Amino acid sequence: MKQQAYTFSYEIYSGVEELTKADADLLLKAREVTENAYAPYSNFKVSAVALLNNGNILTGTNQENASYPVTICAERVLLSAISSVYGNEPINTLAVSYSSKNSNKPISPCGMCRQMLAEYEERTNQPIRIILSGMKGEVYIINSVTDLLPLTFSGTALK
Ligand code: THU
Repeated sequence: MKQQAYTFSYEIYSGVEELTKADADLLLKAREVTENAYAPYSNFKVSAVALLNNGNILTGTNQENASYPVTICAERVLLSAISSVYGNEPINTLAVSYSSKNSNKPISPCGMCRQMLAEYEERTNQPIRIILSGMKGEVYIINSVTDLLPLTFSGTALK
């Protein structure tokens, strides 16, 4: 028997003021567009904003539905938009924020979104940096989606 350990490190900043201007701008944009979420059932408004290698910025927000499983998370709305508009354009940095009356603690993408983000990273051959923060307070920066999804299932298994 062999034992394997998995660790990863990420940065914790006390607030947006500690970020570089580019990262701060992206996070502030993410905070702003939480307003565009359609979340009448959870009142949990999530946004995802991507800075692409080509310099463009695209935004996504969660889109809920009375038939709850139809709901799409902000991250997957955004990835579908990027892929539809720009094809395989790599994502340099992704900022995820949310607005809820209960918390400002950074949230990280759900399992389904991690899977889709991991495949986007793989197909564009570039790690996606992720900035996580609520409407105020602490900010986490993670170097790559695969840090969040060890032993990722990928399409190579299907070949
Ligand atoms: N949600 C996201 O948009 N992204 C996540 O990573 C976690 C959850 C949304 C889905 C649903 O509309 C609401 O947050 C509550 O789960």
